[in-house]
Amino acid sequence: MKQITFLLVAIAALAGVVVITAPASLNADEVAAAIFVTKIPAGYRDWKVISVAHEEGNLNSIGAVLGNDIAIKAYREGKLPFRDGAIIAALHYGHVPSEENNQVFGRSQSFIAGPPTNVQFMVKDSKTYAATGGWGFAHFSKDGKPGDEAFMKSCFPCHNQIKARDLVFTRYAP
Ligand code: HEC
Repeated sequence: MKQITFLLVAIAALAGVVVITAPASLNADEVAAAIFVTKIPAGYRDWKVISVAHEEGNLNSIGAVLGNDIAIKAYREGKLPFRDGAIIAALHYGHVPSEENNQVFGRSQSFIAGPPTNVQFMVKDSKTYAATGGWGFAHFSKDGKPGDEAFMKSCFPCHNQIKARDLVFTRYAP
């Protein structure tokens, strides 16, 4: 049911990414708050795979990183910076053992994607998101709720550490 709700939210977002332009009168904090993407980009579940990643520690997740056509083209051509319209999605799931698979293998070795935990996006729009390196950041919990402001402020400073690759950590897995 949760997955269905999630899907419905995704469909409801068919209108696409909301473009928020911050009026000149806003102070720096308000601008920071306004640059985050608050709508789930449409159709992301059909995008192509860039790579996968497993995080241990508190996250204990399996992630699939997907890109829309503009992002995939940039990766395949090795072109940086990403051009406007590129969107990269990180779909995160729990990292859980599979008893079903282990029975087939005859030993404990199989880990698979558990229930979805969140989905994150980076949306390239060099004008709208100029304050954060041209990327708008988005985080949605498994029930489609956007991340709160304090949490959203953590995205850019960390991603900005990989400026040489246009703020994107994930490399293309052939
Ligand atoms: C402490 C550093 C840190 C913070 C904070 C952080 N990220 Fe990331 N992010 C990473 C690293 C490292 C990766 C690559 C590893 C992985 O995919 O697990 C990544 C991967 C991603 C990706 C896939 C593209 C890429 O750059 O590889 C997206 C999309 C993403 N993060 C979005 C977000 C959003 C949205 C937030 C804020 C809610 C956020 N990140 C906060 C470090 C961070």
